[in-house]
Amino acid sequence: MSRIEIAPSVLPADFARLGEEVVDLEKAGVDRIHWDVMDGVFVPNISIGPDIIKSCRPHSTIHYEAHLMVARPDEMAPLYIDVGCETVMIHAEVSVHLHRSLDNIQKLGARSGVVLNPHTPANVVAHVLDVTDHILVMTVNPGFGGQAYIPLTEKISELKAMVVASGNDIDIEVDGGISAATIAECAAAGANVFVSGSALFKYDDRAAGVTELRSLAEAAR
Ligand code: DX5
Ligand code: ZN
Repeated sequence: MSRIEIAPSVLPADFARLGEEVVDLEKAGVDRIHWDVMDGVFVPNISIGPDIIKSCRPHSTIHYEAHLMVARPDEMAPLYIDVGCETVMIHAEVSVHLHRSLDNIQKLGARSGVVLNPHTPANVVAHVLDVTDHILVMTVNPGFGGQAYIPLTEKISELKAMVVASGNDIDIEVDGGISAATIAECAAAGANVFVSGSALFKYDDRAAGVTELRSLAEAAR
């Protein structure tokens, strides 16, 4: 069974101290850093370019995952792999040749991820599981942190069943509105990686927050 991982989105971080925040999150015991990359075209917001990640990379060894909310993922994915993102996730909704795009990410040496917006059905990934290492289920509409959680446990369970049937080792991650109140149902449905932005940053003691979220997910499986 895939292990439970906590992956903070750094959108709520103090961007004036971003490097320090990433190191602090690593010390708090998170498993990955979830970089929300927004280009102002695919989503009405602009966030983190590759050079920002390049600056942070030498200061920690933690797994970096890039969530590319961009209109041209094939052009952008190599840039984020080059600056040290081990997992690069692209939206199915903007990928005309999704199988080729995911295969290219793997060929560049990174783990490939496909992202599904709340409206996108699970069967969109039915024919790309052979080139997919990671599925990201959006439980908010992309573009901003701090939004209200959209329950999609049926879709998570459907994806889990597809992954099990494929025999491939594919993580299922949920992203958006994940907190102590929502993580358990996502874990019970089959998710094993959990993005938490605003909820995790609300804890005064981040390590305690990571421990609480992880134990809630463990208990729900
Ligand atoms: C939204 C991003 C999410 C978001 C998570 O477009 O992909 O990663 O920042 O933040 P919270 O946990 O606050 O919903
Ligand atoms: Zn995200």
